[in-house]
Amino acid sequence: MTLQARTQVKLASRPGLDETTINEWQARVDAERERKEPPTSFPKLPDIPAGRYTDPAFFELERQALMKRGWIYAGHVDELPEIGSFFVRRQSGSPVLVIRGEDQIIRAFYNTCRHRGAPVARVDVGCAARNSLTCGYHGWTYRLDGTLASVPDSRDFAGLDLSCRGLVTVRCELLGNFIFVCENADAESLDIFLEPVARYFRHLPLDELRLVHRRIIELDGNYKVVLENFLEAYHFRLLHQQTTHRVFDATGTSVHLWQNGHSMMLTPNRRANWVDPGTIGMPEMAGATTIERDNNPSYSVFPNLILPIAPSGIPCVAIWPLSLGRTQMEVLWFAPDWGGGPRDPLWEMRIANFDRIIDEDVTFVAPIQASICSPGFKGVPLSYQERRIYHWHEELDQRIGIDRIAEQLRVKPMLGTLIEN
Ligand code: FES
Ligand SMILES: [Fe+2]
Repeated sequence: MTLQARTQVKLASRPGLDETTINEWQARVDAERERKEPPTSFPKLPDIPAGRYTDPAFFELERQALMKRGWIYAGHVDELPEIGSFFVRRQSGSPVLVIRGEDQIIRAFYNTCRHRGAPVARVDVGCAARNSLTCGYHGWTYRLDGTLASVPDSRDFAGLDLSCRGLVTVRCELLGNFIFVCENADAESLDIFLEPVARYFRHLPLDELRLVHRRIIELDGNYKVVLENFLEAYHFRLLHQQTTHRVFDATGTSVHLWQNGHSMMLTPNRRANWVDPGTIGMPEMAGATTIERDNNPSYSVFPNLILPIAPSGIPCVAIWPLSLGRTQMEVLWFAPDWGGGPRDPLWEMRIANFDRIIDEDVTFVAPIQASICSPGFKGVPLSYQERRIYHWHEELDQRIGIDRIAEQLRVKPMLGTLIEN
């Protein structure tokens, strides 16, 4: 058995959201509600250095580490409906072409012609005609598996070996119907990277969920200002007075810190047996449990995916750094297959309700960005219930390599003993 196969067997045998785990998670929520202060084992956290949000050199280090050296979400299989369907993603700073092959396999390549570097796909979403992609500059033609099929005037090239001139591959692996890419040949497999967070999705039909909706928002703020909002429930009371705060009890939020920077916060519903009125009549995902019904389990897949799973579907917020002070946010919805035709009209209200919460979430992004660029921003003191943010920063430093970070910008590792397997 290969190492990869052995690892997969080992991962598969570890518990996901089984009954024992559900009971344990629920008990932790109850304990949080009763708590009067942080546990005595919780350390005082040093402030997060202000420069981590404002320093251009640090931003470049983190963008390289997160977007080019690690696994990142690229899209959903519904965005590649037929042979030859493709899209181009640019979040890493390099154009990556993701395409469905004649064998139905989804692959990724740099969208860079092997002749003189022109983009092979000239649009960001499309379908390759005649199962091939032809570069518009001189006509080099590639098959859907990236191999070079033909070169015009090939008699003029001395010793050109077409077999060595295929498009350069980017690693591409799937979690259910979710496509991830990685530009780093030395990175672990996606399975290993997603451990243990993906274990807690295993009871859900990830390979049957459809892409229901995709909304793109651009924001004037550093992407960590946007991301960190989704790593705590402390802001519910003021930012979501009429929405989330009325439904969920943030005093019961329990936090789970996992390896590889992944984490989760579980916030209980205020009322027992509460059902989101906007979901009545919608099908529930097969396998949904009381964790999703009686709480809001909001997972963070490092570095930038937020998944607050509900019984009727999975909303997902993906947060992308465009520049030091500019961020793109994708708001996505995944839900059980409705069997063709237009989506259920109930989705319009569901999406609008979630968009309202998202709009509340981003209210402070541009104002915060303006104020953190002032000398008044000295650093970030984080509370016990904001510890997912500190955990995220610890992982970032690991990914960058601590020696590459200026000493005054480093985050001191503090939470190692609180990380669960
Ligand atoms: S750059 Fe693509 S064919 Fe010349
Ligand atoms: Fe929020």
